[in-house]
Amino acid sequence: MSYPTERPRRLRRTAALRQLVRERRLAPAQLVPALFAVHGTHVRRPIDELPGNAQLSVDELAEEAAALWDLGVRAVLLFGVPKKKDETGSEALAEDGIQARAIAAVKRRVPELIVVADTCMSMFTPHGHSGLVREGRLLNDESLESLCQIALTQARAGADMVAPSAMLDGQIGALRRALDGGGFADTCIMAYAAKYASCLYDPFFRQGQKGDTGNDVDYELKQTHQMDIPNGDEALREIALDLREGADVVMVKPGLWYLDVVWRAKEKFGAPLAVYNVSGECAMLAAAAKEGMIDFDRAVSESMQCCVRAGADMIVTYFARQVIDVMMDRA
Ligand code: PBG
Repeated sequence: MSYPTERPRRLRRTAALRQLVRERRLAPAQLVPALFAVHGTHVRRPIDELPGNAQLSVDELAEEAAALWDLGVRAVLLFGVPKKKDETGSEALAEDGIQARAIAAVKRRVPELIVVADTCMSMFTPHGHSGLVREGRLLNDESLESLCQIALTQARAGADMVAPSAMLDGQIGALRRALDGGGFADTCIMAYAAKYASCLYDPFFRQGQKGDTGNDVDYELKQTHQMDIPNGDEALREIALDLREGADVVMVKPGLWYLDVVWRAKEKFGAPLAVYNVSGECAMLAAAAKEGMIDFDRAVSESMQCCVRAGADMIVTYFARQVIDVMMDRA
């Protein structure tokens, strides 16, 4: 009798065998590219912090959305870069604000593409926090009112899904009531349910303002609403709350250092689960690749496969095009 009797390597011998027994598959329809809209026309302003990405004027952004649709992408997450930031984030509420215009343009160009709108004030306020700030505190209930107005503006513009990212208490329930009351019972909510007070969002904040530290992140304040890094049980409580309040999709953010949370969330709730591969994660991979230390395509595709293995149904990403290019099932 030959030894060993079990030879797991048998099924790894060729690419075809490996594909046949692969447990999880990553498909373009699971990728949710994040896109940034800016004022102007024919603008493509590369984002140094996120290689391969650009801030796009609404016309360009609609074309990009159409191209992504053709690649098999089925949803995009839209952010807006306002003309002017102010304490109340007023452009986020405006019907002719940058985010509302981008939503409408994408829905006009590619009606079937699911438009997810980031529902938050952070891009629209000078301090970069997710709500109203008074005397060094992020106000909870007052900010909820603004978030509801922002969500209604987004729904009216045609958003299929709103994605509240502020980590305010009660935000999902408040948004659900506001949307239902406004005649948008079918508008979905993707809740940034377990969002950690991570340093990995810094490149996102610094985009377009190299060397300008004026908008640096105030971690003291951030930690008063985003989650404490070492807490996992609390993430499950946050997710449970959001599901009870009416979230359709729950999210864990960031991704790669938090895959234990992704796994636990999927095991416990089985609800549609998104992972956000945030700017810092992308920046790390891109920087290491630039130094010739890792292979970029492999690193990006491996990191996404790991998110899926951990239990993610969808991945918010800045690297959709690159991953689709190296598409997962080939090797
Ligand atoms: C909030 C929001 C942030 C990111 C996405 N939505 C910033 C924050 O929450 O502090 C960061 C995403 C990234 O780093 O890629 N509007």
